[in-house]
Amino acid sequence: MESNSRDGFSSKIGVIAAAAGSAIGLGNIWRFPYIIGDNGGGAFLIVYLLCVLTLGIPIMIGEFALGRISRVNAIATFRNLAPKSIFSIVGYIGLLSAFCILSFYGVVAGWCFSYILKSLSGEFNNLTADKADLIFNNLITGGLEPIFWQVAFMFLTGFIVLFGIKNGIEKYSKILMPLLFIIIIILDIRAITLANASDGLSFLFKFDFSKITLNTIFMALGQAFFSLSVGMGTMITYGSYISKKENLLTTSLNVAFADTLVAILAGIAIFPAVFTFGIDPSSGAGLAFISLPMVFSKMFMGNIFSLLFFILLLVAGLTSSISILEVIVAFICEDFSISRKKVTILTTIIVSLSGVICSLSNGFMKIDIFNHSYMDFLNYLSSNFLLPLGAILISIFIGFCFDKKLFIKELTNNGEIELPFKNLLFFLFKFFIPFIISIIFLQNLNIIKL
Ligand code: TRP
Repeated sequence: MESNSRDGFSSKIGVIAAAAGSAIGLGNIWRFPYIIGDNGGGAFLIVYLLCVLTLGIPIMIGEFALGRISRVNAIATFRNLAPKSIFSIVGYIGLLSAFCILSFYGVVAGWCFSYILKSLSGEFNNLTADKADLIFNNLITGGLEPIFWQVAFMFLTGFIVLFGIKNGIEKYSKILMPLLFIIIIILDIRAITLANASDGLSFLFKFDFSKITLNTIFMALGQAFFSLSVGMGTMITYGSYISKKENLLTTSLNVAFADTLVAILAGIAIFPAVFTFGIDPSSGAGLAFISLPMVFSKMFMGNIFSLLFFILLLVAGLTSSISILEVIVAFICEDFSISRKKVTILTTIIVSLSGVICSLSNGFMKIDIFNHSYMDFLNYLSSNFLLPLGAILISIFIGFCFDKKLFIKELTNNGEIELPFKNLLFFLFKFFIPFIISIIFLQNLNIIKL
C-alpha cells in the first residue's frame, strides 16, 4: 500500500485495535476483580500496576519487536532467531498455555450467553444478593446448560478463525469495544452512587502495604501477563504484522493503558456493589457475575443495559479467544503442514472437550487436580506458571542472546525515532524480570523460603 498520512493513521489504529482486542477481554472484567477481591484490594492493585509497568510492558515491547524482526509466527520466530537453542521451547510453552487458557475461557464466555438470555427474560428484576448468588451457582453447576454455551462459544471462535472473517470482527470490534467502554462508565456512575460505594472504593484503592505478601506479587504477576496477553507468543504473531513505520513503544504503552483502564473501571463498577449488597469480596470466580446483575437491577432500564453489557462482554471475549486459537492453529499448520481447515476443526473439538471437563469440574462432578477443580487448575497453571515461564525465557533471550543493536534498531525504526529508557529496558530484560520471576517461582515451589 502506498504510504500517505491517512493510511498510516488507519493502520496505526488497526494495530492498536487488534492488540487491544486481544488484551481486553474476560481477563479484565471477570478475572481481575475476583483476583483483586481474593488478594486484599488496594495492596494488590499497586503491585499489579507495578507488574504491568516493569514486567508486562517490557515483554510486550519485546514480543512485538521479535515478531516484527522475524515476520513469522512465534515458534518459527525462535527457530529462526535462535536456531537449535533452548528458546524454541517458548513456542511450545505457548501452545500449552493457549490450550489451557482456551479451555476455561470458553466456559466463562459461555456464562455470558446464559446471562444474555437471563437479561431478556427479566430474571434479574428485583434481584437480591442471595438470589444473584443462587442464579450464578445454579448455572455453573447445572451440567448441560453451561456445556452447551461453552461449546457454542468455542465453535463460534473456530468459525471465525476458519473463515477468516477476522477483518469483519476487527471492524466491528472497533465500534463495539468503545461501546463496551461507555457502558462500563455508565455502570461506574450507578455503582459509585450506591449506598456503601465508599467502602468498595476504599477496598479497591486503599494501599495497605502491610497486606503485600509474596503470594500477592505472584498473583499480580500472573494477572498482568494474562490481561496483557503476553508470555505466550500472541504479541509476537501480532508484531509480525505490524508495519515497519509503527512506533512499537507507544503502541505497547497505548495497549497496556487501555487494558489497565478497563480493568480498573470494572473494579469501580463491581466493588461498590459488593460492599453495598453484602457480597464477600473473596467469593471467587463468580464475583462479576453476581455483583454486576445487582448493579443492573438498581438501574433505570437495567435489563437493557444488562443485555447490552453481556453481549459486549461476549464480543470482547471473542476478540481475545480468536487471538488464542490462532496461536495454536498457526503453530500446527506450519509444523505439520496440515491444512488450516483441518487444524482449526480438530483444535476446536479438542479444546471444547477440555472445556466440557472444565465446566463439569465447577460442581456438577468432582474433577480435581492437586486439590483444585480442573478449571481452576488450568487457570492457575497457565497464568501463574506457563505465562511467566514464557516471559522469563523471552526476557533472557533478548537480554543475553540476541543482538542488542538489531533489537534497538527495530524499536527505533532504524534510528528514525527516539527510544527513551534504552538502558532501563535492557536492565529489566537482563536482570529485573528474570530475577523477580525466578524468586517467585522458587518460593512457590518451596525451594526457597523468604
Ligand atoms: N488478555 C485476554 C483477556 O484479558 C486473554 C488472552 C488473549 C490471553 N490472548 C492471550 C492471555 C494470550 C494470555 C496470553 O481476557
